[in-house]
Amino acid sequence: MPRPFALLLIPALALWLVSCSSVDPPIDDDEQNDGSTLRSRADSVDFYIGAAVGAAHLTNDAQYAPILSREFNMLTAENAMKFASIRPARTAFDFSAADDIVDFAEAHEMAVRGHTLVWHQQVPSWITNASWSREDLLAVLEQHIESVAGRYRGRVVAWDVVNEAVADDGSLRESIWLDVIGPEYISQAFRWAHEADPEASLFYNDYSAEGLGAKSDAVYELVEGLLEDGVPIHGVGLQMHVSTEFAPSAADVATNIERLGELGLEVHITEMDVRIPLPASDAELAQQADVYQTMLEVCLEAWNCTAFVLWGFTDRHSWIPGAFDGYGSGLIFDENYEEKFAYDALTRALAGEN
Ligand code: XIL
Repeated sequence: MPRPFALLLIPALALWLVSCSSVDPPIDDDEQNDGSTLRSRADSVDFYIGAAVGAAHLTNDAQYAPILSREFNMLTAENAMKFASIRPARTAFDFSAADDIVDFAEAHEMAVRGHTLVWHQQVPSWITNASWSREDLLAVLEQHIESVAGRYRGRVVAWDVVNEAVADDGSLRESIWLDVIGPEYISQAFRWAHEADPEASLFYNDYSAEGLGAKSDAVYELVEGLLEDGVPIHGVGLQMHVSTEFAPSAADVATNIERLGELGLEVHITEMDVRIPLPASDAELAQQADVYQTMLEVCLEAWNCTAFVLWGFTDRHSWIPGAFDGYGSGLIFDENYEEKFAYDALTRALAGEN
C-alpha cells in the first residue's frame, strides 16, 4: 500500500506534467511545422527539398531568409563556395560568404550541398592567366580541395566535387584542368575530397544529362569508369535547368536515374529551374508547374533519387534573366514572394497527390 504522502504526490505530479506539456517551446513563425510547407511534407517522407542561396540576400532582403528556412530542409551555395569566391588571390582565402551560408543552414537545421570544388567557370584569374606545369596545377587543386572540403568537414552532406566536365557532344570539356592536368584531374579531385571529408557523399554534377542522349551516356560512362577504378564517387547531380519549351521526358529521366542506381549511385536533382519566354502567360505558368511536378514525382519514385534542389526559390533573385536573354520566371515564388502554380505542384507531388 502506498503511504498517504505518496498518494498526495501523485495528483501533484500529474498536474505538473499537464502544465509542462501545455507550454509549447517557442517556435519562430518562419519555422512552424504545420504540415503545409514543402519542408514539412519533405520531412515526413524523409526527403531533401532544397534551394540555392545567395549569401547577400540572407541579410539584404528581409523576406528571403524566413521563406528559405520555412520551405526547405537543404540548401546549397549559389556562388559562395566556388573557386573564385573562396580564393580571389593565391595568398587569400575568403570563406565569409560560404561560412554565412553554412551557419544559416545549421541554425535552421538544414542540410548543406557543397557546390562546387572543380569547375571550368568562376576560376580566379590568378589561375587562368598564368602558365602552369602539370605538377604545380595539381598542387593548387589539391590544396584548394583540402582547404574547402576540409573546412566544412562533417557539415556538408554532399559535395559537387566536379562540375560540368563533359561537353555537349560527350567528349571531355576543354578547361584549364583538362588542358594542363589531363583527365586525371577528375579522379584526383574525388580522392582528395574523400580524404578531406570522408563522411560526405561525393557527386559528379552536370546539365543536359538528365534524360537520355549522347551527353547523359557520356556522363554514365565517366562515372562507371570512375567506379571501376575504385574512385570514391557516390552520386550524380542532374542540374535540370529546363524550360517550358524543352524539358526531357519523364520516362527518359526515370530510365537514366535507374541506370545510375544500378551502378549503386545516388542521384540528386541539383539546380532545377524552368525558364519561360517573357512575359509569362498563365498557360505557361501552368505548364511550368507540370514540369516541376513531373520531375519531382520521377525523383520521388526512384529509390536512389534523394534530393530535389532548385536554383533559388524566388524570381526576385534568379540567374535566368541574366543568363538567358528574354527568359525569366523560372522559380516557384514570384518576385513578390507570392507562391506560383509551381509551388502548389511541388506540394502535391510531395503529398503523393496528382
Ligand atoms: C550560376 C549562378 O547562378 C550565377 O549567379 C553565376 O553568375 C554563374 O553561375 N550551373 C552551375 C551553377 O553549376 O554553378 C551556375 O550558377 C548555373 C549553371
